[in-house]
Amino acid sequence: MLLPATPAALRRAAAALRRGEPVGFPTETVYGLGANALDPAAVRRIFEAKGRPDDNPLIVHVTGLPMLRRLVLEVPAEVRALAARFWPGPLTIVLSKRRSVPDVVTAGLPTVAVRIPDHPVALALIEAAGVPIAAPSANRSGRPSPTRAAHVARDFPGLLVLDGGPARHGLESTVVALGDPPRVLRLGAVPVEELSRVLPGLVVATKARARAESPGMKHRHYAPARPLVLYRRSRAAALREALEADPRALLLCADADAPLFPGRSPVRLGGEPDEIAHRLFDALRTERRGSLLLAYAVEKRGLLRAVMDRLERAATRIV
Ligand code: TXA
Ligand code: MG
Repeated sequence: MLLPATPAALRRAAAALRRGEPVGFPTETVYGLGANALDPAAVRRIFEAKGRPDDNPLIVHVTGLPMLRRLVLEVPAEVRALAARFWPGPLTIVLSKRRSVPDVVTAGLPTVAVRIPDHPVALALIEAAGVPIAAPSANRSGRPSPTRAAHVARDFPGLLVLDGGPARHGLESTVVALGDPPRVLRLGAVPVEELSRVLPGLVVATKARARAESPGMKHRHYAPARPLVLYRRSRAAALREALEADPRALLLCADADAPLFPGRSPVRLGGEPDEIAHRLFDALRTERRGSLLLAYAVEKRGLLRAVMDRLERAATRIV
């Protein structure tokens, strides 16, 4: 059930959360499927509803540092610096958890991933519920993340969903672990270059390392309803041939690259990097008729690095 995020709808959603029921809600990155983070039974319902493997920990959303302090053993100086620059916003930080955080939230890890979302509805919902909210992206496990309330309603018929309009970033938060060196475990809406300014020595964890530290990274993600073949930027000619061979194939590319593939009207990713990030999951959920999705890679820099990460993980094959 889609409800515009009015004060009455917020009260209703907060009451549902307190009763242990799941709620779909908007954040600035993607829509979340929320549960009271301190109620293990409520959190288990999120895993069941998503069909999520139980070794994939959830992000806990809080309104501010006082609520955060109730969940973690300590708030290191780096966190205060990161918070000053990026919170509220699309940055998730992995910290040592207190016992009050149920194991089901963290998939048994000794750490908990936390962030302060930059969305008035998300903040008002946490405030009204009076508890931190554990929330993965509100898609069935393995599907593209939802950037609109309607995507959530489609994946979860019957779920109470607060509609806050299309997500501003359209790409999930960047997940970072502190330590020596600090590591990006998942690329996301805060580009690595920007994070490095606050966290000198920051490295992007290798795929193997990210999988070991952040179990969610090993699962299949973002799969569109049909196969997606991703062509590297050096393989434009191969992509042209594939398009000629299959007139029903749908082309997915950035606006600037469309002239490389004349005669096809692409599923558009847009122009500027933030527009491309914003449209990506919508494009993966395209309802246009056709056979395969054939995607042309974007350059791996800034925000587009995270876009490429998602495309690579969505792809059934990379050429
Ligand atoms: O933007 C976002 O982050 C969205 C919105 C709803 O906040 N949430 C989201 O959640 O993308 P989800 O569940 O789709 O992805 C959570 C990621 C996974 O890659 C998981 O492995 C990682 O965060 N994660 C969660 N807890 C962790 C922990 N304790 N240690 C390492 N990684 C963790
Ligand atoms: Mg997700």
